[in-house]
Amino acid sequence: MSTTPLRHYLQFNDLTADEYAHVLQRAAVIKKKFKAYEKYHPLADRTLAMIFEKASTRTRVSFEAGMYQLGGSVVHLTTGDSQLGRAEPIEDSAKVISRMVDLVMIRTYGQDKIERFAEHSRVPVINGLTNEFHPCQILADIFTYIEHRGSIQGKTVAWVGDGNNMANTWLQAAELLDFKVHVSTPSGYEVDEAVAGVRQQEGFKVFADPMEACRGADLVTTDVWTSMGYEAENEARRAAFADWCVDTEMMKVARPDALFMHCLPAHRGEEVEADVIDGPQSVVWDEAENRMHVQKALMEFLLLGRVA
Ligand code: CP
Ligand code: NVA
Repeated sequence: MSTTPLRHYLQFNDLTADEYAHVLQRAAVIKKKFKAYEKYHPLADRTLAMIFEKASTRTRVSFEAGMYQLGGSVVHLTTGDSQLGRAEPIEDSAKVISRMVDLVMIRTYGQDKIERFAEHSRVPVINGLTNEFHPCQILADIFTYIEHRGSIQGKTVAWVGDGNNMANTWLQAAELLDFKVHVSTPSGYEVDEAVAGVRQQEGFKVFADPMEACRGADLVTTDVWTSMGYEAENEARRAAFADWCVDTEMMKVARPDALFMHCLPAHRGEEVEADVIDGPQSVVWDEAENRMHVQKALMEFLLLGRVA
């Protein structure tokens, strides 16, 4: 068990701007050690339980490899191979699992589920994606932006596509870290401010035309038209999102040094043209790799507090 006060990471707002400055700086230090093959085992003998109720490649590999690199170990659970899929109450699962491990990462559907788990957990719980939020991904995206372009403060991020978990998390991040988000979604797929937990309107601006959202942006980003759990809406979404494909024309109206990001997995020819995601402004592979480095810093922070 950790000796630091119990903290969860269920949404982006769960850390302060000052704590983000610390975690981002630690992520850079930890990444450097990794690149130099320098052993760093602050979480020796600690165990992370990873619970997946939805599919994953990046989240699974980044948390699992990251925890081993920090000297710890992992337990991987899915709905199909645990009692979670057989209706054991989430509260009971939280009480049991958190008596045996030091940290829990959950990827699930409703945010309410991860909140109920956290309420009954003795150890920190990390959101590895819910229908509402994907904070670890935005943490990686911001780290990636900083690596390539310096501070994100005062910059403009263009969000083109669904008003989904990624969009909600970008809005929380903009408020906290003082940048702007230009949001363009098809009608009927707007961000729900109450769900996103937006507290001030200054952090974002809505555009009917995705091209206008991209104009002058420092970063253009998008995501799949149909998120996990919404597959039944696939056909309707394909029709509604047809004009929300990030193409070279959109990148041309952004700033000349604008970056392109996508949390992946991507569908070339749907939400993004191949020429953009595989083009010179795209930093998607750094973005994916950085999931591991920022999450190692996050796990270090949640378990050990501020490591100097
Ligand atoms: N970006 C992301 O979370 O990817 P996975 O679904 O592969 O984990
Ligand atoms: N919005 C996507 C992100 C996948 C990493 C989803 O929830 O499926």
